[in-house]
Amino acid sequence: MSLTIRYIRSSGPASIRSDLDSGLSILTGFRRLVLVPSEISMHMSEEIRPRRTTLLSAAGFLVLQRLLFCVICSPRRSGRLKIEEGRMKVTYYGHACFAAEVSNRTLLFDPFISGNELARAVDPKKVPADFILISHGHADHLADAGDIAKRTGAIIISNYEITQWFGRMGLQKTHPLNHGGGYRFNFGRAKFVNAIHSSSLPDGVYGGNPGGFIIESADGNFYYSGDTALTMDMKLIGESIDLKFAALCIGDNFTMGIEDAIRAADFVRCREVLGLHYNTFPPIHIDEQAAMEQFKAAHKNLHLLLPGESHNF
Ligand code: NI
Ligand code: MN
Repeated sequence: MSLTIRYIRSSGPASIRSDLDSGLSILTGFRRLVLVPSEISMHMSEEIRPRRTTLLSAAGFLVLQRLLFCVICSPRRSGRLKIEEGRMKVTYYGHACFAAEVSNRTLLFDPFISGNELARAVDPKKVPADFILISHGHADHLADAGDIAKRTGAIIISNYEITQWFGRMGLQKTHPLNHGGGYRFNFGRAKFVNAIHSSSLPDGVYGGNPGGFIIESADGNFYYSGDTALTMDMKLIGESIDLKFAALCIGDNFTMGIEDAIRAADFVRCREVLGLHYNTFPPIHIDEQAAMEQFKAAHKNLHLLLPGESHNF
């Protein structure tokens, strides 16, 4: 049986092809293993500490090899390998703002906290960020971005026009993307994808076109829709990537409502949904219980967190 082992170090990914019968090479300094035998893909959640000693890495690998042998060669196995995947911690900060812990970095999306009465339990002066990702120019997606970027030194990732706008405000640590383009950062890859919405900045300046993000990392992948209508482009995401969860706007009026968000989850082929952009203003108020039941009826889980609450996807 052929097996691909991909080990990921801080210096970048590499892969080794090996064969179970002939034994596996001893890898040193590896941090996380992703094993891909034929059509099966799984991620080892157990992290083996890197570069302590070669001996420790080798010992860790031997344990892993033994575990693999047991799983793959067990007579009771039935089709797909089942080893629990690593978990990704996500914290909700109200409206469309949330943070994901990815490869030990904090990715903060669309910070709008100080102006959100529902997020009064969250202190924006204490919200951590290594990267701030902004989907479009509306104030309910970036009002706190400048202050948090100044305090934390986080890099702002957004479209070209929005990063230029922050640059003129003295925030030079930015990275511009445009639609269809992605870039590999130290946490993984961020790609800017289509959204159907508008995007003027708070001072009326043109904010480029709105977008969403796909994040790919060794910890798993996820999609943040930004503010958007349901779009057929979401099918392309479902066709090309396995998502751990999708963060979707659900509040209707300015964005997708519940029915469209369920279809969006179908399009991107993801059952775990973090609901965003609801209840903050009267026109986007939802019945949370009914929304969760609608998702459940469509065999999906809608996660509605309280501001400040975390969930591990
Ligand atoms: Ni908007
Ligand atoms: Mn919005």
